[in-house]
Amino acid sequence: MLVAAMIVYRAVILYCLQVVYAKNLMKEIVESYGYPIEEYKDIQTPNGYFLTLHRIPYGRKMTDKVDIREPVFLMHGLFASSVNFVFAGPNISIAYQLADRGYDVWMGNARTTSYSKKHAIYDIKSFDFWNFTIDDLAVNDLGTSIDYVLRKTNRKQLTYMGHSHGNTIFAILLNERPEFNEKIKLYVGLAPAMSFTVIYHPWLMSTSYFIPIFRELGMYEFPPMLNNINDMMSFLCHNNVADPICIFVIELSVGSEKSMNKTATNPFFQHLVEGISYKNFQHLAQIYFSDGKLRKFDFGINENIRIYGKAIPPDYEINQVRVPTAIYYAYYDWLNSREDIAIVVKELPNIVDDYLIPQKVFNHFDFLWARNIKELLYNRIINLIDS
Ligand SMILES: *[C@@H]1O[C@H](CO)[C@@H](O)[C@H](O)[C@H]1NC(C)=O
Ligand SMILES: *[C@@H]1O[C@H](CO)[C@@H](O)[C@H](O)[C@H]1NC(C)=O
Ligand SMILES: *[C@@H]1O[C@H](CO)[C@@H](O)[C@H](O)[C@H]1NC(C)=O
Repeated sequence: MLVAAMIVYRAVILYCLQVVYAKNLMKEIVESYGYPIEEYKDIQTPNGYFLTLHRIPYGRKMTDKVDIREPVFLMHGLFASSVNFVFAGPNISIAYQLADRGYDVWMGNARTTSYSKKHAIYDIKSFDFWNFTIDDLAVNDLGTSIDYVLRKTNRKQLTYMGHSHGNTIFAILLNERPEFNEKIKLYVGLAPAMSFTVIYHPWLMSTSYFIPIFRELGMYEFPPMLNNINDMMSFLCHNNVADPICIFVIELSVGSEKSMNKTATNPFFQHLVEGISYKNFQHLAQIYFSDGKLRKFDFGINENIRIYGKAIPPDYEINQVRVPTAIYYAYYDWLNSREDIAIVVKELPNIVDDYLIPQKVFNHFDFLWARNIKELLYNRIINLIDS
């Protein structure tokens, strides 16, 4: 009886939340903390995708009169969006801290996230919409987004900060379009995923075995049935992120939740999971299940010869990231292992800061939501950006 009542209660809350947040979650969150937020929609990539950029142009106690703010561009990781950089509020999320420090903060949204789910011709249900690889994401979306910010702010350079896959696409962009080295003043890599020899996540990569089945079934978005997953997260986590079932799901997905402030993250937690293309995931799986080296998508021998002029896809080189680089990583990050960090550190030619988070209980997402992330890491980063 009690359980039934709780289920009904949660379902009602869930329904109400959807009505509220169907509007614009990003705007809701940022405005709820008293910060200005701008949204730039319909930034079109060369191949027809429409992207959205979010911007916190200045801090809470400032006005937009002063025009000396340097742009900082934040790029989210896989299964994520710009919401990642704001949802835990100003005491935790870095976007607010940068804005309060006087920076002009821009946040990207890769194609297929909820803010960038639009194409000039393709319907989002069609195969064509989802038929792209990480190479396209990097060269088209990231390149277009960075150029847009530079044009809009009338600057020649910006500071780039990536979390996880936001680093993968950054490395690819600088390989494919080396002129972007000139456009980056400083590159800050949180969990810089540019090598994939060891992944400690207990189940994520094995789900890639199901990709051919999902594809046959017309499920091109990964994870499939995303809406159901988000509904389930709302259902399990809405009342309380500290709920044992919710904690169980978090621990299963990202590792220990012990560093997280569950009060701060509570209101928005259930809106965090975003979809990617099955092919994006397949691309990562190809890399992981071969030798872990970042390279172009493997279309199979015949197609490779047609597209690349050779049987195996060309490699990307980490040492093409020649900009001043600061990298930050953790002891036991399931998705960004110390083994791979060792490779990345050896190859990056221009490291100005290299820091292992001195806290052992720290997961891949603690870079965004750890309760003490400001003292642990962000103050250090902001000092570096200042200097
Ligand atoms: C941020 O931290 C301060 C001091 O600990 C606290 O007073 C304030 O309520 C916090 N703000 C939010 C939005 O959590
Ligand atoms: C998917 O995209 C690739 C190029 O990236 C192209 O060669 C292929 O024909 C496309 N597949 C379909 C079914 O459109
Ligand atoms: C967690 O977040 C809440 C709300 O933002 C804040 O009031 C509280 O002080 C935080 N707790 C810790 C331990 O940081």
